Amino acid sequence: MYHHHVKLILLALGGLLLIGGASCLSQQSRHLCGINELSTASLRLSPGSEVVFPGDDDFGAVTLRWTNFSRPTYSVAVIPALESDVQKLARFATACDIPFLATSGAHGFDTTLGRVKQGLEIDLSRFRAVSIDATANTLIVGGGVRFSDMIDAVYAAGKEISPLTTSPEQDHGTGPCVGMLSPTLAGGVGRYSGLHGMISDQLLSARVVTANGSVVTASATEHSDLFWALRGAGNNFGIVTEATYRVFNLTSRIIVNADYAFSPNASAAIIDYFASFGDNTPPKLALILFGKYDANTKDVSNMHTISATHPSPTHLSCKRGTQLSLWVNIVYAGRLVELQPLLDPLLAKVTPYRQNVSEIPWSQMLYYNFFGATPSAPAACAAKGLDRDIYGGAIKSYDKREWNRFIANFSSFLRGADEASRSSIFFIEQFSKVKVLQIPDEETAYPWRDITAHLYIYVNYGHGDEKSEVLYSARKLPRLRALKKIWDPENAFRFAHPFV
Ligand SMILES: *[C@@H]1O[C@H](CO)[C@@H](O)[C@H](O)[C@H]1NC(C)=O
Ligand SMILES: *[C@@H]1O[C@H](CO)[C@@H](O)[C@H](O)[C@H]1NC(C)=O
Ligand SMILES: *[C@@H]1O[C@H](CO)[C@@H](O)[C@H](O)[C@H]1NC(C)=O
Ligand SMILES: *[C@@H]1O[C@H](CO)[C@@H](O)[C@H](O)[C@H]1NC(C)=O
Ligand SMILES: *[C@@H]1O[C@H](CO)[C@@H](O)[C@H](O)[C@H]1NC(C)=O
Ligand SMILES: *[C@@H]1O[C@H](CO)[C@@H](O)[C@H](O)[C@H]1NC(C)=O
Repeated sequence: MYHHHVKLILLALGGLLLIGGASCLSQQSRHLCGINELSTASLRLSPGSEVVFPGDDDFGAVTLRWTNFSRPTYSVAVIPALESDVQKLARFATACDIPFLATSGAHGFDTTLGRVKQGLEIDLSRFRAVSIDATANTLIVGGGVRFSDMIDAVYAAGKEISPLTTSPEQDHGTGPCVGMLSPTLAGGVGRYSGLHGMISDQLLSARVVTANGSVVTASATEHSDLFWALRGAGNNFGIVTEATYRVFNLTSRIIVNADYAFSPNASAAIIDYFASFGDNTPPKLALILFGKYDANTKDVSNMHTISATHPSPTHLSCKRGTQLSLWVNIVYAGRLVELQPLLDPLLAKVTPYRQNVSEIPWSQMLYYNFFGATPSAPAACAAKGLDRDIYGGAIKSYDKREWNRFIANFSSFLRGADEASRSSIFFIEQFSKVKVLQIPDEETAYPWRDITAHLYIYVNYGHGDEKSEVLYSARKLPRLRALKKIWDPENAFRFAHPFV
């Protein structure tokens, strides 16, 4: 499970936007294909567009990604200003056989992205407009929008949408800086899944630049086959320039964020607590268990909880400040008085050595999680350029014995670890699937509605070495492959967990 330069384990996050690649449709003459001579003039891009080469001052900043591990490399980055620029870029890259990737937050970590070598980055950072229609209950965003761009506007309109979760990493959470479209296109797990379904279930329509440079609107009524594919496998179908989502009246303007830090001897009680909800985590409740090294963890000499469930445990005698800490984050879409009875069964069994339970506005959710690890969007966006190698998984139910064995093992791994390896973490996200399951399986390409806890696997949490069946399901693959033949016959979009 760990690997010497693994910095993160099972970290849950969303990702980059869209990837594209090459093919040779081309009527375009090859002499126009020189990537090093590319300019706004040669491609007839609009005056607001920008072309950035490796020698340029801002190339490093423009191409910086959340993880350096198995990252794509670029010969040029283009920042288009208009949708027509994106069309020209897609046409150019496809015709000239240049691997390309469209990016927003650049958080994607799947190792397949590293197959983009000396490619073209299409940076969608000028596509971050946000508008809300509170009467129609719609949110319209540009394809490069980040979660932090839309949250305040949605809240000010008295609305909510299921946002991504925050993931703390070396005390810098990152959720607010993640692009909204890529997680959406891969399915999208969020804390409000129990109330509103997957993030992709909230998508009403999208304007998509396809491999041949056309623009189409995909919705329930227009190109509905493409719309089906976009919601679960969309990163393999095109570049979204604009998306319309459904928003909902706020369930509660004020919500609860509760953070607890426990010693590793609480592990059995925590796993019991998570497992106790079975298939029925209440819709307003979102649970995360996050295991990390913590220099402040209290001394634990008594490991009897683990011993009881695991008769011959690894001997765990931990010194102060050199061990695993188990952080439980609970977000509740309502007031504390309503949440309290749901907390009591956990707190009756184990006592945290640190806690912060706050009633906060919905819009502050991502900034309070994990003891305020990500106090602002700029703080989230500053956590880029580290090596992060991530594996995901998903479970239907808990094998408690196996979990306790794993946590004990991880705890002793951290104690023996050097400074770098101590930044390894693991993560469980358990959100209600009540609304997720109300939406029929055949409605979208997202295949795993019955997952109880994500460790993580929806497409964007895949590592890059999984079989397509694991990410997309054997059930959905034949239709996805048939649609690829229509919308991307040359497989230009083939770098984000390709399935053909
Ligand atoms: C949402 O709130 C508005 C304004 O308060 C109200 O008119 C509308 O009925 C609410 N919609 C739902 C579905 O509750
Ligand atoms: C875990 O260790 C702490 C600190 O030594 C102790 O206070 C607590 O009672 C222990 N809890 C369990 C469940 O063993
Ligand atoms: C709880 O967290 C918030 C946000 O990070 C912080 O402002 C507040 O001071 C914290 N409260 C306690 C008691 O630590
Ligand atoms: C990640 O890559 C960037 C770009 O090459 C580099 O500037 C940065 O130092 C790298 N980060 C680490 C931790 O090596
Ligand atoms: C953790 O489990 C693995 C697989 O069983 C084993 O190889 C490893 O030695 C264990 N590590 C620790 C630190 O207990
Ligand atoms: C682009 O592809 C779409 C989908 O296959 C097709 O309907 C359209 O005619 C193509 N456009 C061009 C200009 O080839």
